[in-house]
Amino acid sequence: MAQVKAKYLKDYRAPDFTITHVDLSFVLDGADTRVTAVSQVKRINQDAKTLVLDGEGLSVSQLLVNGKSHDYRVTEGQLSIDTDLVEFELSIVTELDPQANLALEGLYMSDGAYCTQCEAEGFRRITFFLDRPDVLAVYKVRIEADKAAFPYLLSNGNRVDSGDLDGGRHFVCWEDPFPKPAYLFALVAGDFDLLDDSFTTKSGRDVALQVFVDKGNLHKAHHAMASLKKSMAWDENRFDLEYDLDIYMIVAVDFFNMGAMENKGLNVFNTKYVLADKDSATDEDYHGIESVVGHEYFHNWTGNRVTCRDWFQLSLKEGLTVFRDQEFSSDVGSRAVNRIHAIKVIKNQQFAEDSGPMAHAIRPESVIEMNNFYTVTVYNKGAEVIRMMHTLLGEQGFQAGMKCYFERHDGQAVTCDDFVAAMEDASGVDLTQFRRWYSQSGTPELTVNETYDAESQEYRLSLRQHTPPTPEQSEKLPLHIPLDLELLGSDGRSLVSQVFSITEAEQDLVFSGMTEQPVPSLLQNFSAPVRLNFDYSVDQLIHLMRYAGSEVAKWEASAALFSQAVWQNVAHLKAQKAMYVDPRLVDGVKGLLLDEQLDQALLAEVLKFPSLNTLVEQVSRVDLDALASAREFMLEEIASGGEDELLARYRELSTMDSAGARALKNACLGLLLQTSDAHQGLVQSQYEQAGNMTDSLGALAALNLEQSELRVSLLQDFQQKWADTPLVMDKWLTLEACCPGEDRCDALRELTQHSAFSFANPNRVRSLIGAFAAANPVVFHRIDGSGYRFLTEAIIKLNTLNPQVAARIITPLIQFKKFDEQRQKLMRSALEDILALPDLSKDLYEKVSKALA
Ligand code: TRP
Ligand code: ZN
Repeated sequence: MAQVKAKYLKDYRAPDFTITHVDLSFVLDGADTRVTAVSQVKRINQDAKTLVLDGEGLSVSQLLVNGKSHDYRVTEGQLSIDTDLVEFELSIVTELDPQANLALEGLYMSDGAYCTQCEAEGFRRITFFLDRPDVLAVYKVRIEADKAAFPYLLSNGNRVDSGDLDGGRHFVCWEDPFPKPAYLFALVAGDFDLLDDSFTTKSGRDVALQVFVDKGNLHKAHHAMASLKKSMAWDENRFDLEYDLDIYMIVAVDFFNMGAMENKGLNVFNTKYVLADKDSATDEDYHGIESVVGHEYFHNWTGNRVTCRDWFQLSLKEGLTVFRDQEFSSDVGSRAVNRIHAIKVIKNQQFAEDSGPMAHAIRPESVIEMNNFYTVTVYNKGAEVIRMMHTLLGEQGFQAGMKCYFERHDGQAVTCDDFVAAMEDASGVDLTQFRRWYSQSGTPELTVNETYDAESQEYRLSLRQHTPPTPEQSEKLPLHIPLDLELLGSDGRSLVSQVFSITEAEQDLVFSGMTEQPVPSLLQNFSAPVRLNFDYSVDQLIHLMRYAGSEVAKWEASAALFSQAVWQNVAHLKAQKAMYVDPRLVDGVKGLLLDEQLDQALLAEVLKFPSLNTLVEQVSRVDLDALASAREFMLEEIASGGEDELLARYRELSTMDSAGARALKNACLGLLLQTSDAHQGLVQSQYEQAGNMTDSLGALAALNLEQSELRVSLLQDFQQKWADTPLVMDKWLTLEACCPGEDRCDALRELTQHSAFSFANPNRVRSLIGAFAAANPVVFHRIDGSGYRFLTEAIIKLNTLNPQVAARIITPLIQFKKFDEQRQKLMRSALEDILALPDLSKDLYEKVSKALA
């Protein structure tokens, strides 16, 4: 491994030079693609005598300073020019081969179309540049290519010129009036179907909206377009933010490392977050499209108009934009269900990251490979931190803070601290201690004890907060934790409902005049991203399930009840005692099942019960086999206890046509199948009669929990039916990846040879290999090591092919601390094999070396 060096936030320095304008000219010609960049360079630091540009894998064919040739040095990743000039024009011609670019960063080809991905540091693979987000330039772009093969030539901003050229070629010119960092640059050239529409902003400007999709997919672009218009209207209404250019384009591409990218005026999307019709996409897919389209659109203000000073500040735009997309989804859909989904991401993925070797604060202190920090911590915990400020300031105070933020910083590259300062100054709320959420990593534990004194009628909650040390940060300070608390009387009445600020390591909340001991609903709506320890009794949790004021709290109570029972049974298993289910729990679940008032989608969430991964996150050491058996036992007991109710509800729901009804129906079906194979007939008829992908997949997912002949035959049918639709074949790959069975890994290894799979396409890799490692823990952690071996082989392939994706899917392998000695040994040895690779990428090096440290 070549020496890799971490970069530190504390070493940040403003740039010595900046670039105010850049004219880019692309001659797209396969392996002979040529890029000319003419930059207006300005010296900022008058002592600086050397301009150092970033560049990777480029060959320079010409370099001119003010039109004359000039000396320069190229070293690993950099080009240096010595100069005394204060302002000058720098012209550089580079050559590149987009077809050879399999890492999908910089300029690459996706299925015959040229496209770019520049965040975080991809622009330096296109030309030598000051590739850092605090250098903001005005871009003009000229694109030239073969007209027949690439009729659409797109870039940021407004189209200002176009024309035909000799040899069947043509060109288009674009100008983006808004100064932007290089990571927001984009270019796309290809042949597409185009869906056209428009939006009139509240000030009366007409904006052209365009969604470009692969030929033949036009009918699948409508939901994305509708989502875009919804997003634009929502941002005007809730945040008073209007779109600023005359055109907004979305291009869907097949080969993409992430979900989507917010390039100014020209978003590039993974097809997964654009294409949908009801035959091929599930309700969940529809929801995902709406939220990602919203997310990228909302970046136009939170990310593009105001951007990050440096990459350590990534959460400035991502945490805030996730918060905004969550609020959008909640305002246009079910607030409770959206909140539950967000809570689940934190509890099973973010807590895992925080307790593993890659633990970092939402504003990391050091980074080796920036691509490794597009994490659930920066994004989702970042959004929770924004949400806590919203809780502390209220909607009005928060919106005042947003307004102040834009007044101060529009057109600038700023820090997380600038954002907090705007919130603080506009609202008058002191956020001094709150700022620790940005610098402190790890998950705080909030331990609560209750005492009640009947005589003095005093109810007391004693709180203790403690954040365990993380690998790079041993000292932790108390945080400012908003605790949303409700106290319920025995008749279910709400006695107290208030948000308290917890700021001390130990702090008591005292309530007087309590004529009875209340039941506390603590941390309602997950008001802070902490682990809550409170010794709830079964009766208390059942009381919360019945009476808590919020639906989220009812769900939390049901999940806590289930988790508690699972852990008790794990203990029973270890003591070789029989497992046991409390009839009050089964009755509680039945009560919810019979409650026709309860939102269907919410009840579906209840019936999914905490996943194995969520349960693993609740403890510091886990016996996975015992845990899986105990969880399985509980599901079977609940399902057989409530079989009649489940069946009745299933039948009733089968006649309804809504996403909520489908979600609940499929949750019931999954549980029914846990009781006995007798319900396989239900699955088969649902599959055969399904009029949409949600129901087809619901049937297959229910079947997928066990090996059976029916499973094999229906999956076979599904595969044949959808062989020509890659995004549906991804669902098939995931079903295969998540099936139990001793020889599963051999089957998966064979599937990597299947025509539906390709290591070159990130969606395929995530659907088969990523899903296997992340969502099939029982097989992944098989004690024979076959799961670890399968993942390791794939990672070794991807290390050179697509390092970014390799480093993402390795996550479950580096989180080994919770497992037994034998598994830890197997996992470590797999990681050592990876670390020993001669051409190990920076991306993998960072994660593997931290895991083995
Ligand atoms: N900024 C993008 C988003 O959150 C994330 C993204 C898309 C990205 N593609 C990427 C990040 C490639 C790193 C590398 O919307
Ligand atoms: Zn984003």
